[in-house]
Amino acid sequence: MYKRLERNDPCWCGSGKKYKACHAAFDDKLIQLEHKGFRIPTRDLLKTEKDIEGIKKSAVINMAVLDEIGDKIRAGMTTQEIDDIVYNTTIKMGGIPADLNYEGFPKSVCTSINEEVCHGIPSEDVILQDGDIINVDCSTILDGYFSDSSRMFCIGNVSPEKKRLVDVTKECLEVGLKAVIPWTPIGDMGHAVHQHALDNGYTVVKEIGGHGCGKEFHEEPFVSYVSRPGTGMIMVPGMVFTIEPMVNMGTDEIFCDEENGWTVYTADLKPSAQWEVELLVTETGYELLCW
Ligand code: MF3
Ligand code: CO
Repeated sequence: MYKRLERNDPCWCGSGKKYKACHAAFDDKLIQLEHKGFRIPTRDLLKTEKDIEGIKKSAVINMAVLDEIGDKIRAGMTTQEIDDIVYNTTIKMGGIPADLNYEGFPKSVCTSINEEVCHGIPSEDVILQDGDIINVDCSTILDGYFSDSSRMFCIGNVSPEKKRLVDVTKECLEVGLKAVIPWTPIGDMGHAVHQHALDNGYTVVKEIGGHGCGKEFHEEPFVSYVSRPGTGMIMVPGMVFTIEPMVNMGTDEIFCDEENGWTVYTADLKPSAQWEVELLVTETGYELLCW
């Protein structure tokens, strides 16, 4: 699938080096994996140094916004107030909220409470209550580069059951990160995440997952957490993607709000939690870009 270059040609990556001294061995490794039947990334999914710097700058804003939410979030606040903080802080720092108008999404951030799995829409009418758990999922565009991360917040006195869901979901993310091993298939990572959730008596949403990210909001590959080991795209140094499992206390079945067309709920209305990070695959493992 890759165009074969002559060994003395300039490398396709733009380094200015000869191909043989740059990406030739890298490409050989990929082609061998492809011959074994694995999916490999197209070249546009491999980020350059410049791309990575751009994503990191975008992520500085995204993380500052989430820090600000963490400082201010409390019972009695509306989710519209969270949206206002996201919009104002992002714009003040020179970025654009990636969610705003994305495929018609009406607000700057997703705020998903308790049984809301994802894509909760901020509203003046939704007031945070003592005991709620909420996911704030924030994404930023800066100079055309996308960053994407989400965090859980516990409002006031949260029940031990819900607190455990939030904590185990974070552990799922950590288990996933440990499984980001370059040159192995991404299905191994997803399976490890799923297994940790199952071991704790929870389920993982299968229809919605992570994604490549950086030059566009949602790029290949789709990052599933209900995947078989040995399947899926090979994790290649230079790839950037998110890990963002949605972990449910009860059934993994979900449904979408018919009125707003966005918000996803658990079918049994039991709580759901999610944490999201964006990472770069490196030669030795991964580097977190946004969290
Ligand atoms: N931030 C979400 C993700 O992690 C996407 C939200 S899209 C929106 O991929 F339109 F709902 F904002
Ligand atoms: Co995402």
